[in-house]
Amino acid sequence: MDVLNYDILIIGSGLAGLRAALEVLGIGKERLRVAIISKVQLMRSHSVCAEGGTAAVMHPEEGDSLELHAWDTVKGSDFLADQDAVMRFVNLMPEEVLFLEHWGIPWSRRTDGRIDQRSFGGHSFNRAVYAADKTGFFEMQTLYDTLLKYRTFDRFDEWFVTKFFLLDNEFKGVAAFDIKTGEFRAFTAKAAIIATGGAGRIYGFTTFSHTVTGDGISMAYREGVPIKDIEFMQFHPTGLIPSGILITEGARGEGGYLLNNKGERFMEGYSPTWKEVAPRDVVSRSMMIEIEEGRGFKGPNGLDYLHLDVRHLGADMINERLPLIREVSIKFAGVDPITEPIPVRPVQHYTMGGIHTDINGKTPVNGLWAAGEAASVSIHGANRLGANSTAECLAFGRVAGAEAVRYCLEGPPKGKGVPKELLEIEKRRISNLLEKDGRENLYWIRRELRETMDHLVGVFRDEDALRAASQKIRGLKRRYQDIRITDKGKAYNTDLVRALELENMLDVAEVVALGALARTESRGAHARRDYKKRDDENWLKHTLAYWTPEGPRFEYFPVNVTIWEPVERKY
Ligand code: FUM
Repeated sequence: MDVLNYDILIIGSGLAGLRAALEVLGIGKERLRVAIISKVQLMRSHSVCAEGGTAAVMHPEEGDSLELHAWDTVKGSDFLADQDAVMRFVNLMPEEVLFLEHWGIPWSRRTDGRIDQRSFGGHSFNRAVYAADKTGFFEMQTLYDTLLKYRTFDRFDEWFVTKFFLLDNEFKGVAAFDIKTGEFRAFTAKAAIIATGGAGRIYGFTTFSHTVTGDGISMAYREGVPIKDIEFMQFHPTGLIPSGILITEGARGEGGYLLNNKGERFMEGYSPTWKEVAPRDVVSRSMMIEIEEGRGFKGPNGLDYLHLDVRHLGADMINERLPLIREVSIKFAGVDPITEPIPVRPVQHYTMGGIHTDINGKTPVNGLWAAGEAASVSIHGANRLGANSTAECLAFGRVAGAEAVRYCLEGPPKGKGVPKELLEIEKRRISNLLEKDGRENLYWIRRELRETMDHLVGVFRDEDALRAASQKIRGLKRRYQDIRITDKGKAYNTDLVRALELENMLDVAEVVALGALARTESRGAHARRDYKKRDDENWLKHTLAYWTPEGPRFEYFPVNVTIWEPVERKY
């Protein structure tokens, strides 16, 4: 098998991966060889779908402050975020916004030319910097453009990583194959940054692209790196019916209302002060209660819904600031938001937990970092605030990039290389998977997994549902051992890719369900009907899940509370 040698591998080409790459190339100068490996073409990374904004304190003269951003984030997290990490994050963000500005991003502006900011859920100040409602697309384009000025990196688009090699607690390299040709290779490096995104597609009704299957999280987990706090799954209040496509929180930030089937602006009852711009966990729970109590509209396949009304904002404002959600509503729901309300319901949107890292994005393994949604640094705790995700990708992509460079250039020489026999074992594993003639259809297993997650591990949870989900996933994992890959070819074997993704999804889903079953309290997005209250005495702690053949083993460790003692969370 061919082996390619690099100094740093960046695995994933979304916002966190590209920001890390820019940092590595910028401060590494020409001294380091860098490869960006992605299972998609770079600009097809899911980050291009980010819509509403990026949180940063840009106008302190008007009353915003870093402390306020940090407090909103900690309170939003239901006090599970590490406060030192949050402080670091908010401190880095204003500069990140200005970097993008200097690299050419077309931020939306006020009439006086200054960067504009819109309201977002749980932020007590207009703090979301935005580019209409295509913020992620413009951020990606800007980072990509800027990256092109560097010559010392190679791109491996449409390469699927199948395994991380971590030996003696040190990163050694990865195995991957070219989806286009089936060619299998090893990549060795001194360091790697995992920036492969979250695991939204373990759900069926989700805002995520089909590619978001938890690959990096799952592969790290199987090699012994713990997953942190992944029982906390975010449900965004406004997924379009019936597809689940994101209707940005920016629509409510700009003044849109949520209405039930009686035409009532029901959020006034649940959150009198914040109403539609309360944090996502609060709004999603309120919407589910409205639907469960019969004040929703009948939707297809049990997807009952509510209305998001932006008509009063007027055509000019919608066309200028929310053009994407207008286009998406027309194309995918047959509804023009200028004249009709948009049908929406809570939809899986974000993986709050991820690969366990320290405040520098470093995993417990030497030479291995994680950034963005794949990582849990942890700044989101039990509930992420809107606009803090693209922001996290920028801030901690940068931090991880800088740390990886330092690791490569300083200290003793790093051991390199993956033993040949391990590479052969991995290559054989993939060819065995391809060749074996099992009886199970992998797409049925995938569908059953998503139905299980949608129905049993949703906005509200309880012991019976979570136990049933865990047992079901165990059964699906057994059936996975007997799958058949129908396409035996080499070029663009998407059947093989889907099979490998499914293995990753099943592992992550099991940790989500069992982690949620174990956590006998309600906190942030984890709302247990059988344990309705937050329990700081027993549960003000992070979950760490370690892989074992029998399923995850859980350990717990304390949250870093440096400034604010937990108080009752009211909105
Ligand atoms: O609603 C949105 O535009 C989503 C933003 C986010 O998840 O941060």
